[in-house]
Amino acid sequence: MQVNEIGNSLGISNLPMTWFATNVDQALCFYRPLVGEGLETERLRCIFSLSANERSPGSLFGFDYGRHVPYSFRNPYNFRTPRDQNRYKSVQNDPIPYSSFTVQAIEMYHKSLKNKEKIFAVAPMMDWTDRHCRFFHRQLTRRALLYTEMVVADAVIHGEREKLLGFDAVEHPVALQIGGSEPAKLARAAAIGADFGYDEINLNVGCPSDRVQSGTFGACLMKTPDLVGACVAAMKERVKVPVTVKSRIGVDDQDPEEALDRLAEAVFAAGADALWVHARKAWLAGLSPRENREIPPLDYGRVYRLKEKYPNKFIGINGGIQSLDEVEAHLLRLDGAMMGRAAYHTPALLADVDQRLFGEKRRRADPAAVVEAMAAYAQRHIAAGGRLSHITRHMVGLFHGQPGARRFRQILSTRATRPGAGADVLRDALAAVGLPEREAVA
Ligand SMILES: Cc1cc2nc3c(=O)[nH]c(=O)nc-3n(C[C@H](O)[C@H](O)[C@H](O)COP(=O)(O)O)c2cc1C
Repeated sequence: MQVNEIGNSLGISNLPMTWFATNVDQALCFYRPLVGEGLETERLRCIFSLSANERSPGSLFGFDYGRHVPYSFRNPYNFRTPRDQNRYKSVQNDPIPYSSFTVQAIEMYHKSLKNKEKIFAVAPMMDWTDRHCRFFHRQLTRRALLYTEMVVADAVIHGEREKLLGFDAVEHPVALQIGGSEPAKLARAAAIGADFGYDEINLNVGCPSDRVQSGTFGACLMKTPDLVGACVAAMKERVKVPVTVKSRIGVDDQDPEEALDRLAEAVFAAGADALWVHARKAWLAGLSPRENREIPPLDYGRVYRLKEKYPNKFIGINGGIQSLDEVEAHLLRLDGAMMGRAAYHTPALLADVDQRLFGEKRRRADPAAVVEAMAAYAQRHIAAGGRLSHITRHMVGLFHGQPGARRFRQILSTRATRPGAGADVLRDALAAVGLPEREAVA
């Protein structure tokens, strides 16, 4: 690649020479004195990787200093058509660098899924795991797989896509959860999601809410395993990224032994790459969705038995997991553990995931530094017309259990919701952390 092309991309023009770099180290040697360390270097890596692709269309070189890994910009599967090539051109001008860490994280996730190595995930939660929440969680852990809220297939197809599906590149690896029961529509929605860059498409077979029941999808699909199989098959046919299912162990008066086996049989026969099981039945009448997350009792044993039956399939567990100790215990018997409410309410536990579950050497994320990163993110969001509270509402539990946590929560729940609130509110809230509560309140 011509070095002056890199220069133009970085906004450095009128270079005195033209020079050809064959790898990123060469390019960095040349550019480091001009761009310095840090973000620009990351960006340079990204630009170089994109340009490398131009010389071998169809595969992109994401890299980590000389270790070339074939990867497309958004994900390893969606870079095959002339349309993708055009997208690559627009991506070249993308102001957000696509970090090599991100490329590695996606790679590790897909490898784990394929080899049934352990995966830790934050559960899909409607109205909670939106893009701001996921951005926040990603500051705490690089290795957790993050799920979107459920988006119904019709909305994906007909709705405002950028608003419903847009996400930040740092969120990878990130899975889109879709709700629906019509194979053709689900396949279309899955293709749109994969095109957007999601690393996995997940089908919701677990949500018991009335609204969802009326559209015949969610948990009531447990009663029609063959239809779920047809949905998975149609989605698999359209996308190259993994297609997974999140289910219950049964609904209403179903026998969980039979119901879960039948569902698993159908989805694995259709090619599902993973089955995540919320280890309790759903009751479709008489309980609110909230009650359905506490009643009836959890049955982890049922999920363990499923894994014994399918030792070569990826099976993950969800429901009631409160701590990383519990996650570790589940991971001794299963391939994945997924945490929902505990991760949302006490997000600091995510800061231990990379080191504890995946043996990563990097230092644990410092929650104070995370607040700083979120303040910068909030500034960008507000400048683009958003409100501070869209972001801070997910952060109130960050210092749970520490002195000053209550004051931190109070400031975010009150000042951050006022019109015109700026990122300084986050910094003020941070200043209250570590102070004894009484002093903080004063
Ligand atoms: C507020 C909220 C919204 C949820 N929305 C979804 C959803 O959109 N899709 C889904 O599959 N599950 C949804 N769930 C269920 C969770 O993914 C998870 O299965 C459930 O909370 C049990 O896990 P936990 O005990 O770790 O929270 C939701 C849960 C909560 C608390």
